Amino acid sequence: MLGGGIGITPLLSMASHLGTEGRSFALRHVVRDAARQWPLPSGTPGLPGLPASVHIGRASMDLRKLLGEQPPGTHVYVCGPAGFIDAVRSASSEAGWEAHRIHAESFGTGVDTSDAPLRVTLTQSGSTLHVAPGTSLLDALLAAGVWTSYECRRGVCGACLTEVVSGEPVHRDSLAPDVRLGAMCTCVSWARGPELVLNL
Ligand code: FES
Repeated sequence: MLGGGIGITPLLSMASHLGTEGRSFALRHVVRDAARQWPLPSGTPGLPGLPASVHIGRASMDLRKLLGEQPPGTHVYVCGPAGFIDAVRSASSEAGWEAHRIHAESFGTGVDTSDAPLRVTLTQSGSTLHVAPGTSLLDALLAAGVWTSYECRRGVCGACLTEVVSGEPVHRDSLAPDVRLGAMCTCVSWARGPELVLNL
């Protein structure tokens, strides 16, 4: 299991579950600097001797080497920023791993350097929002007083799924493509700008 930044927290409960079942696993916590390190519990039930390590800075971990050393049939569960997940996916592909052995969950807005500001028009309210990269569409909607449902804010639950009237979404959620057909998760996804029209 690979946890980038606060992405370690959902993996801790998975580790506890696997530990209780006596399953084999290793947990690696990758942080940009020591100040961002999450305390790893050593006395958690199911984790008597937590097989965990902390890596300060992405460069401190050779992902391709790490993946290449794993026994056949190993699966990787990765949680963290989109850039970290992309790095794990490309390292796994270089190491010859099948895509189905990588399980990823992102969080946050997943800002990409190519993201451009969006002008978002809402068909029901008739309002227009200007959203800069780094602010999630969901946060921009809520700040503007637009009612929209949400739960996880990580692109997992689908509660924020919103119909796209026009525009080209860049999907960064974990939903199946057929589930989000004609729609997008505003909590993590972006769009190829500059125009996006949502049925809200
Ligand atoms: S709030 Fe859960 S997918 Fe967006």
